[in-house]
Amino acid sequence: MSMLDTTDVTPDSTPPRRLLNLTVNGQRRTVECEDRQLLVTLVREELNLKGTHVGCLNGDCGACTLECDGKIVKSCLMLAASADGSEIVTVDGLGTPEELAPIQEAFWNEDGFQCGFCLPGHLFAARDLIATNPDPTDDEIRQAIAGNLCRCTGYQSIVNSIRVAAAQARAE
Ligand code: FES
Ligand code: FES
Repeated sequence: MSMLDTTDVTPDSTPPRRLLNLTVNGQRRTVECEDRQLLVTLVREELNLKGTHVGCLNGDCGACTLECDGKIVKSCLMLAASADGSEIVTVDGLGTPEELAPIQEAFWNEDGFQCGFCLPGHLFAARDLIATNPDPTDDEIRQAIAGNLCRCTGYQSIVNSIRVAAAQARAE
């Protein structure tokens, strides 16, 4: 090796990766991530769960919402590595096209969405609200969904959907 040959000191440009163990929509998954990878990109790109959307990447729109260890989180604000060992539920895990979850069914019946981009945030916020407040007023519903932006509906049909879902849950 000549004195000018620096190949042996060239820094490795590959970002460091680590293995995560997660439970995702009821299934154990082991997946690689980069140290600085966001949870939302892990969910979409490595786990291929595209129901979780990327809007603002800034915590403002709610399209990336999912549940992590029972708590609603905006997954663009969380590093994937910090979810190691967690139980994650994404919007894809709420129901199936053949068997919608009750909250999905209410949104379907009440025209609670148009393009559906905002659905992850609204569905998780609605589910959380009904679990803690089974008979919410419209004001309480609006407060509960305040962290989620919808560019299509004008929100009234979302409020109607959540009111109907709450009434159905009470009836059951
Ligand atoms: S993409 Fe996460 S809040 Fe908008
Ligand atoms: S239905 Fe399109 S953003 Fe809400």
